[in-house]
Amino acid sequence: MARKVETATEVASQTPPIRIGQCLELRILRLAAGGDGVAKAPDGRTVFVPLAAPSDFLEVQIVDVQRRFLRAEILKILRPGPDRVEAPCSVFGVCGGCTWQHLDYPAQVEAKRTILADTLSRIGGVALDQVPGVMPSPRGYGYRARARMLAGAGESGFRARRSHRLCATRACPVLAPALESALEDVRRMSAADQEPIEWEIALGSDGPVRCGRVEKKTALPIVIQIEGDEIQISPGTFAQANALLWEGLHRRVLAATGRGRRALELYAGAGFFTLALARRFSDVTVIESAACAIADLQQNLERAGLDHVEIISARVESILPSRRFARPDVVLLDPPRSGLAESALEAVANLQAEKIVYLSCDPATLARDTARLVGRGYRVTSIEGFDLFPQTPHLEALVVLEPLRRS
Ligand SMILES: C[S@@+](CC[C@H](N)C(=O)[O-])C[C@H]1O[C@@H](n2cnc3c(N)ncnc32)[C@H](O)[C@@H]1O
Repeated sequence: MARKVETATEVASQTPPIRIGQCLELRILRLAAGGDGVAKAPDGRTVFVPLAAPSDFLEVQIVDVQRRFLRAEILKILRPGPDRVEAPCSVFGVCGGCTWQHLDYPAQVEAKRTILADTLSRIGGVALDQVPGVMPSPRGYGYRARARMLAGAGESGFRARRSHRLCATRACPVLAPALESALEDVRRMSAADQEPIEWEIALGSDGPVRCGRVEKKTALPIVIQIEGDEIQISPGTFAQANALLWEGLHRRVLAATGRGRRALELYAGAGFFTLALARRFSDVTVIESAACAIADLQQNLERAGLDHVEIISARVESILPSRRFARPDVVLLDPPRSGLAESALEAVANLQAEKIVYLSCDPATLARDTARLVGRGYRVTSIEGFDLFPQTPHLEALVVLEPLRRS
């Protein structure tokens, strides 16, 4: 006798509704771009579980119910997945700084490769013949050269997970070893403050630790030495945070730009890439909007004796569409997380550069902008990730695009 086979929708419709507070046993299938573990609920909906590892078998409690997905917190690890390790930090899970310390470092890098490939193909429609590489940090801990933290009333630390509260700590294993003493320094300097105040702690290649209140910008600048140049970076100006990858990232970005006559750099900051770019191109124009970054950039170029760089102090989306720029050999861009505004993207495409070298700290906006540039006649010639933030799901990625007609 023929047996009726139930469809997934029919099965789901017979499953009792899932409610907040309900406990479930789930297996983690993979990690999502935001860092949470991903599982399937009995009704087929996706469940996001923070602090989970792939193949963990968990007892979880549902904390949020949405039409298409659920969120849950771990109650008990019933069987750990093979990549789960003991987190070394005493405030892991409470502090908002790290969310992946429970994952073996090679597994973190592998997860970032998959996330980068998935994001570029799913959002960007990029056809990948292989999963792109991710340059690992030489060490998974002790890498961080700059951080913002809270200090007051005799305590210091980072913000707690999903909160603005201070999560007090006496040690932070992701900080560069020389910077760990700064936790104690800011605790001492802020002992008289009743409410926690934001501090910046930083370390350059030149050695001394700098601490200062963010609001007052009182810390001294740091200096990063790279390719024989000195890049001074003041408080308030963006600085690449992983000291162990300064050189690797710099080398790969400059290898991608190559050499030539005319280069245009957008979102240049204090000139982490600009000085090296100016040593490879005879005519360089940069656009940057932050006054403190421009002051650093001017000094850095002057000290290096590089006088063929035009600095434009403006927002990229305002100046690029409104002014005529000569066609560059290369456009190098390193925008904030939000990526390129529509008008800026149109203007970049209209420049008809021979190469676009796009560095991004957000794979999703990078994928969106890559898709738009492909729609404007470019093709992707290389993709590479950089693990600037081990123990977190954050990922830096570099995409190189060239005009389609050259293939
Ligand atoms: C991710 S940082 C990169 C800086 C530099 N490439 C580096 O590696 O140090 C982005 C930079 O873009 C600048 N910026 C942000 N929005 C901007 C805009 N709309 N127009 C121009 N610059 C902008 C910021 O001030 C910051 O210096």
